[in-house]
Amino acid sequence: LARARQAIAEHARLVADFPKPGIAFKDLTPVLADPVGLSSVVTALTHGCTEVDLVAGIDARGFLLGGAVARELNVGVLAVRKGGKLPPPVHSVTYDLEYGTASLEIPASDIDIAGQRVLLVDDVLATGGTAVAAADLLARAGAHVVGVAVIMELDGLPGRATITEGLGAHVPVHAVTTG
Ligand code: PRP
Repeated sequence: LARARQAIAEHARLVADFPKPGIAFKDLTPVLADPVGLSSVVTALTHGCTEVDLVAGIDARGFLLGGAVARELNVGVLAVRKGGKLPPPVHSVTYDLEYGTASLEIPASDIDIAGQRVLLVDDVLATGGTAVAAADLLARAGAHVVGVAVIMELDGLPGRATITEGLGAHVPVHAVTTG
């Protein structure tokens, strides 16, 4: 964990006023482009993680992490896609954004994840809306989220509380760092 935090401190880029004035965007791209950054972060994401059958990575930056975390845990990976990317049939969930709505989808045939214990992986936890929507989606396929792992939990936003409220206090939220 210490190695990952050091790599993040060294490589993460802060971009002022993006995507909106007053917002400081945390760009983790250089962390993942660094060999020590990627390996230490991926290992840190699996911290305390046992009894997982499947990793789900959230579109798009969660994909970079999901496959690597799944290899580390010796399980498979599922991409939770933004709406409109997958052929039918799909399971779909629509959720609210600050402005408007968005949807997430997974295939509804040819993969059977019923009963599987899923670790949700993403780069950043902000409001928590995406993670809760992804967990709802997986529940439609009969799977259940047993943990949420992110590289960075943003300070001052209710992501952790939203997940606890939406998924229950028994679902651990693991953030490698905050920022
Ligand atoms: C970002 C981030 C998470 C989500 C977190 O993705 O990668 O998936 O927002 O926000 P929330 O906790 O408020 O729901 P974004 O929608 O920017 O998509 P991208 O990965 O395709 O850039």
